[in-house]
Amino acid sequence: MPAPILTATGLAKSYPTPSGDLAVLREVDLQVTAGESVSIRGESGSGKTTLLYCLAGLEPVDRGELHWDGHNVTALNVGARARIRAKILGFVFQSYHLTPELDALENVLLARRLAGRVRPEDESRARELLARVGLGGRLRHVPGKLSGGEAQRVAVARALLNRPRLLLADEPTGNLDERTAKEVINLLLRLCAEENTALVLVTHHAGFAALTRRALRLEQGVLASAPQS
Ligand SMILES: Nc1ncnc2c1ncn2[C@@H]1O[C@H](COP(=O)(O)OP(=O)(O)OP(=O)(O)O)[C@@H](O)[C@H]1O
Ligand SMILES: [Mg+2]
Repeated sequence: MPAPILTATGLAKSYPTPSGDLAVLREVDLQVTAGESVSIRGESGSGKTTLLYCLAGLEPVDRGELHWDGHNVTALNVGARARIRAKILGFVFQSYHLTPELDALENVLLARRLAGRVRPEDESRARELLARVGLGGRLRHVPGKLSGGEAQRVAVARALLNRPRLLLADEPTGNLDERTAKEVINLLLRLCAEENTALVLVTHHAGFAALTRRALRLEQGVLASAPQS
């Protein structure tokens, strides 16, 4: 049995609202082992994005414990958490979140650049990933000159630059047509398998959810296994 790369136990999260606290996550338990793929479906507003942000340590939880690769995330200070997150985690957003004035290659390298150092091996890794997502010929395109599917493929390459152990993807194909969406999902699954990166994929699409090893549903603030449909 591979070691868990992510363990969440009893996560609870509510948002304060003028009419009182809105409980979104009530009691979330999730364990993801190295290299495993898991999908999460759930109605709009059920808390999928909230859950991914909590799992990424980007949103504080009210209760519960979170471990990344054995690190107790809730016990870490902000700096240590950011350092370990940068090493272990990748994130793919629904709306790409690319920097519009930077070209594809610079977008993939941005986190390195902000960390102050782009080593030659970072640049060759970025070029290799862009080639693997089929964009070897688009290195110098800015996001505005890429199609939606191409932009999301740049975001996938960016998320994988640091060889994360865990990739969290929030509706990564929500803005794409069916055929392009399928290409991006297959690419995500293939790259994660090749790199032994665990994947937590939030998707509305039953067909895509069925492609992961385990399918879960978020309902009433709790994660449960979903029948494959
Ligand atoms: N910062 C916030 N403050 C207050 N309420 C919030 C906040 N962020 C999200 N919510 C509420 O929490 C609930 C869950 O939101 P979330 O974005 O996690 O849902 P989701 O499952 O990702 O939905 P979708 O499928 O539409 O993306 C929603 O009812 C939303 O209105
Ligand atoms: Mg969402």
